[in-house]
Amino acid sequence: MLQIWGKTPLKGHVTISGAKNSALVLLAGSLLCSGSCRLRNVPSLVDVSLICEILVALGVKVARQGDALVLDASDLTSSKAPYELVSQLRASFFVTGPLLARLGVARVPLPGGCSIGDRPVDLHVKGLQALGADVQIEHGMVNAYIRGGRKRLTGARIYLDFPSVGATENIMMAATLAEGETLIENAAQEPEVVDLANFCRAMGARIRGDGTNRIVIDGVPALHEADYMVVPDRIEAGTFLIAGAITRSEIMLSPVVPDHLTAVIAKLKESGISVVSDAPNQLRVIPASSYRGTDIETLPFPGFPTDMQAPFMSLLTVAEGNSMISETLFENRLQHVAELNRMGADIKLKGNIAVVRGVPKLSGAPVLATDLRASAALVVAGLAAEGMTTIQGLHHLDRGYEHLEDKLRGLGAKLQRVHESTALSAPGNSEETVPSPLAECASENTPSDPLSALI
Ligand code: UD1
Repeated sequence: MLQIWGKTPLKGHVTISGAKNSALVLLAGSLLCSGSCRLRNVPSLVDVSLICEILVALGVKVARQGDALVLDASDLTSSKAPYELVSQLRASFFVTGPLLARLGVARVPLPGGCSIGDRPVDLHVKGLQALGADVQIEHGMVNAYIRGGRKRLTGARIYLDFPSVGATENIMMAATLAEGETLIENAAQEPEVVDLANFCRAMGARIRGDGTNRIVIDGVPALHEADYMVVPDRIEAGTFLIAGAITRSEIMLSPVVPDHLTAVIAKLKESGISVVSDAPNQLRVIPASSYRGTDIETLPFPGFPTDMQAPFMSLLTVAEGNSMISETLFENRLQHVAELNRMGADIKLKGNIAVVRGVPKLSGAPVLATDLRASAALVVAGLAAEGMTTIQGLHHLDRGYEHLEDKLRGLGAKLQRVHESTALSAPGNSEETVPSPLAECASENTPSDPLSALI
């Protein structure tokens, strides 16, 4: 569990890692390449390690060089993704499109739901069917192969009922090697989709329109080697902006792409927090003495990102006045509400809407992280709360934030990861205000690099 001693001001600069959600789909995209690809700025995370294990099971040779991964997919040996791995990582369904395009067949277990919702894959399947795949779902397995014994998928016009990020990415990857032109209408416009298109272009794919809702892909027979750098993580950056704001601290972040954070910065501004860009890839959060509540509705990009909803809610718990937060993308993504209320927040839930009444302060408490972004929300709440907050369920956090504790400690935060049996004080002892010998224990308790076991 993670112990955080709150109310410590933060200061300084934090380096933002490569985007988890980009890295995962780019790694799957490496299956499209007939040679080997080098991906730089890949965050060291449990999810990254899992998708690498899936690639290895399919015959990809994966090697690590510093923050880069070299992926040689020239000799794929299997078209079947192992259930034990896919069941742990929804994003592993991304391998379906590339496998189908490369081998003409893909057998991938249905990823199933997760703690934030059901998360169906019907749009992925419909898109692949439109490209000429026969897709059957039997015994929890998606069996897809190219119809009529053809060698390549066939370009098609595909309208997505909803601009799903994953479906856009899966279909785009499959279409890079299809015969003819594919048009994806009502496509997702997220920066991770653009990052994938850039990576595919670096491998020789012909894609245009990414970043708009209309993406056109002219299929090519094969993709070649490429060296590519993963875009900075906008959600990690947004989380650090909130960490600065909620602790009333001025902190600097880089590298970032400010345009990826337009909605988050706009909402921070409405709450009374300035974010300035001193250099093209840098942001600085400038706090104020008091904040105002604001309303938020999560939407596909460029709307407010659902992945920032939970951390932003933590901030609004201590803003003056009322805020209304509507979660429109995932049906079960408000589980952090109960945990924030345990810390003294005043939030009422009605369906997918949370009404937050600002309180003067939060107080440390034992809380449980229920999903990745909920964990981040509890961490930033803990940084602002009086006394000690103890967060359990850290496996969620380790999936998505690279070296979070080290980064926060570098900014001056007081926190440490401990095993329950060695906790320095009982969870929930919110009277604890004196930081313990944190720096010393921290490094030995921080999980080791998840990729080191693999490569
Ligand atoms: C990705 C991100 C996730 C982020 C989400 C929305 C990765 C690894 N994950 O998830 O962090 O929160 O985008 O920005 O990149 N839907 C369907 N049918 C489908 C596919 C999706 O109904 O076939 C629905 C989902 O249930 C959800 C909505 O569409 O309600 C958005 O999902 P989608 O954009 O696909 O999110 P993911 O790609 O799963």
